[in-house]
This record gives sequence, structure tokens and C-alpha cells, in this order.
Amino acid sequence: MKRNDIKPSEITPESVFLNRRKLVAGAVAMGLLPGIDSGARAAEIPPGGEFSSLARWPESTTEKQSPWEVVTTYNNYYEFGTDKSEPARNAHTLITDPWSIEVTGAAAKTGTYTLEDILKPHTLEERIYRHRCVERWSIVVPWVGFAMGDLLKRFEPTSSAKYVEFFTLADPKQMPGLRSSILDWPYREGLRIDEAMHPLTLAVVGAYGKVLPNQNGAPIRLIVPWKYGYKSIKSIVRIHFTDESPRISTESQRDGGWTWKSSWNDYAGNEYGFYSNVNPNRPHPRWSQQVERRLDGSLFSPNIPTQMFNGYADQVADLYRGMDLIKNH
Ligand code: MTE
Repeated sequence: MKRNDIKPSEITPESVFLNRRKLVAGAVAMGLLPGIDSGARAAEIPPGGEFSSLARWPESTTEKQSPWEVVTTYNNYYEFGTDKSEPARNAHTLITDPWSIEVTGAAAKTGTYTLEDILKPHTLEERIYRHRCVERWSIVVPWVGFAMGDLLKRFEPTSSAKYVEFFTLADPKQMPGLRSSILDWPYREGLRIDEAMHPLTLAVVGAYGKVLPNQNGAPIRLIVPWKYGYKSIKSIVRIHFTDESPRISTESQRDGGWTWKSSWNDYAGNEYGFYSNVNPNRPHPRWSQQVERRLDGSLFSPNIPTQMFNGYADQVADLYRGMDLIKNH
């Protein structure tokens, strides 16, 4: 996976290596191993900007999709400004190619990987998810991506990897929003390892069949559909596996000694919990979370009831069995 990986031909006598290749080719032909030609496609960012022949996830929501124009012009990406319209106007300065991700911490395969290497073995599919912001608006988006867990497994996290931290790029030359100190840059978010490995947790590289626009977190972002949107960190440049539990802030305070934290929890812990599971029964201190405004492109975006875990309770409630979800908000 790494650029400098030793090739099998360098450690195995060539005759054995060639023989093994034949065996593998045979196994693929017999359908024993998934081959590139058997439906799986090597993922890449298409140079033309459009993905072709995407697999379709059978569990996608059939709710009305939010229009592309809404999803790509009404954004939260504070590195490009705090106004909803600013990311679409400013994020053209983000350089997404070349891109690499550094993998650190409790894993066997740490190092720096190019985006090409990250994507290559995966099959991209379209998944239509609800996306609920803590600010009470929601959208329905056909994302293009693959299970984040499939990527994380390739780094072989050790048994002490209890949490995964993700970091966004923080380059003041590309990101005018970094001039403001509203957040402690880089933007960072974390998940418990079982949340990160959950099959609903997506690594996203596109939307609406197209390459992800910069303002939506190009070239690769996280989407965790049962959590408030701020957990879904954009433009990831580092993944860190750790056994350390996050310092969960319960008050709006800053503490330079914290080892790891989540940006919004750090900003105001009583308002933005570490878990941030969508929960209509836990009001934000300044507003109710019972309803949300669905940005569906109609003139009057309807108010609809907010669902527990954003409607994904059947799939994810087990992750939190026995936990007080008000205390652990
Ligand atoms: N990631 C970074 N790096 N910076 C941000 O400001 N905003 C978060 C999340 N990821 C944010 C981020 C918030 S609050 C939300 S609601 C979603 O991105 C918005 O994603 P969207 O603009 O694609 O709808």
C-alpha cells in the first residue's frame, strides 16, 4: 500500500512468486476471490468529474433528495468562512490534487498514503443518506463512497486502538477562514473504533454522481449519518488510532493540556457532546431538537420530526446499549 512497500518478488524466489500469481489468477477466474473484473472496480477520482457505473446501495432512503444547488451552496466549512454561502465562494483555493493522508498511532501500517493508494482497492457505491445538522436543518444526499471501516482495517489497528481521530487540512494559504480563531485549528473529530468501523460510516469522495465539490469536503470526507453533521469531518489529511479516551468537555472552557478532542466539543462541551448522536429528546441548551427543517428545494422547506439516531436506530442503537444518551450526548 505504501509507496515504498517491498514487492513480493523481492522477498520470494521468482519461480514461487510467479507460480503464486498463476494460482491467484486461477482462483479469481473460478470466482473464489473478488477480482477487479468481477463487478468490483478500483476506485479513483475520475478526471472528467463524473463517476461511471456506480454500485447502488440497496438500503438508500427513498425520501426526496435535496437539490444539488442547495447541498453545494449552503455549507458549514468554517475554514472557508462562517457564513453558509462562503464555502461555495471561497473553497476553490483548496488544492485537492495531489492529496495524501497520514496514518499514525496504534496500527501496524502507519505512514503517509497517497489518495490514489487509499482509494484503489475499494468499490465505490452511491448511498442516499439523511444528513442532520445540529443547527436543525437537514438534507438528503446521494453520496459516493465506501465503508470507512474497510479502509481503517487496511491499516491493521492494534487491540489498543479504542478511538479514531480525524484531522482536516489546516493551511492558511488555502483556507481564509483560518484567520479567525473561532475554532482551534486543525478541525478535528473522533469516533469510538466500533462507530468508525460500523458499516454505515462512509468515506465519501463524491455526491450526485460527481466528484465532491471542495465546499463539501473534497477530496475525501467522513459521513456518519446517525450523528449531527459536525462529526462528518471534511478534507481529511490525518487518521490517528489511539487507546486514549477523548477529554470530554462538559463546560465551555479551553485547556491547552488536552491531548485529543473534538473541535465542537472543545468549543462548547455542554452544547456539543463527544457522541453527538441525533437525539430529539436531548435539547441543545439554546434550542429544541424535536423538529428539523428539511431543505428539499421547495419554497417552504417543511418542518419534520427529528428521528432518534436520525432514523438509523435499527442499525446503530446496539452500539450504545446501556448508556445514558442524555448524559453521553
Ligand atoms: N469539517 C470541517 N473541516 N470544517 C467544518 O466547518 N462543518 C461540519 C461538518 N464538517 C465542518 C466540517 C458541519 S457543522 C456540518 S453540518 C457538515 O460538515 C456540513 O456538511 P455539508 O456542508 O457537506 O452539508
